[in-house]
Amino acid sequence: MEVMSKTLIEVRNLTKLYNGGLGKPITALQDVNFSVAKEEFFTIIGPSGCGKSTLLNLIAGLDKPSSGEVLVNGVKINKPNPQLMAIMFQEHALYNWRTVLRNVEFGLEIRGVSKAERRTKALHYIRLVGLQGFEDKYPNQLSGGMKQRAALARALSLETDILLMDEPFGALDEQTRLLLGLELTRIWQETKKTIIFVTHSLSEAAFLSDRILVMSARPGRVKRIYNVDIRRPRDPNSDEVNHIKALIWNEIKDEALSMMKGG
Ligand SMILES: Nc1ncnc2c1ncn2[C@@H]1O[C@H](COP(=O)(O)OP(=O)(O)O)[C@@H](O)[C@H]1O
Ligand SMILES: [Mg+2]
Repeated sequence: MEVMSKTLIEVRNLTKLYNGGLGKPITALQDVNFSVAKEEFFTIIGPSGCGKSTLLNLIAGLDKPSSGEVLVNGVKINKPNPQLMAIMFQEHALYNWRTVLRNVEFGLEIRGVSKAERRTKALHYIRLVGLQGFEDKYPNQLSGGMKQRAALARALSLETDILLMDEPFGALDEQTRLLLGLELTRIWQETKKTIIFVTHSLSEAAFLSDRILVMSARPGRVKRIYNVDIRRPRDPNSDEVNHIKALIWNEIKDEALSMMKGG
């Protein structure tokens, strides 16, 4: 991250209650505060159920907070803004009846981009994610890793400043995940996007991030935010990366345990 970093996203006193049934509310997030700088790779990590997706959905404007607010460039988010943020989820992102090319074009199609421009952009981003040669394949002809590459190409083709990623590689095996992490670093550097990346993988967090926000479990709060001052390109097996993993694990293990015991 540059020294003269400029704040892009501000999360202020964000609290989210869900109706838990029997009239008992669930506090999924409580008083969450942080900000993300322009062009930063910012990761949110925490055990399953701690509120990561809730937080990302609120940032995306897909849901409303119970209190608090999210600001982007000082402007409050209260609905999805596809010109500003693209979102990528763990799975189920592609239409099985569309080819890779037509899946990538889809987001541009609903934005009303002309056919010629759609095609040019889609082909560009398909190449960027390493899927050239697979334009005419259907999702069920692709491996899990390739499907996520296609989903990434679709998110990138929208050319938003912000990319939100909710455990995008979570369903993949470790090697594929590592490979896609490497590619994501390259793409992030090339496209200069601001990325908020949700994961429960210590390796992914330590390898990819400028900063890592560790969440506490039930209710989800900010437990700690780590700076990861490791030069890129990073070696996923280096002592520096392992040191960060150990620090986060130390922070997170009690949370993970409390979730396993049912909070
Ligand atoms: N729509 C919903 N209605 C009720 N409870 C929900 C809803 N979405 C999430 N929750 C609850 O909020 C908590 C946080 O969920 P979530 O944000 O999905 O966590 P994570 O992504 O970290 O696994 C969990 O206890 C979950 O059961
Ligand atoms: Mg989730």
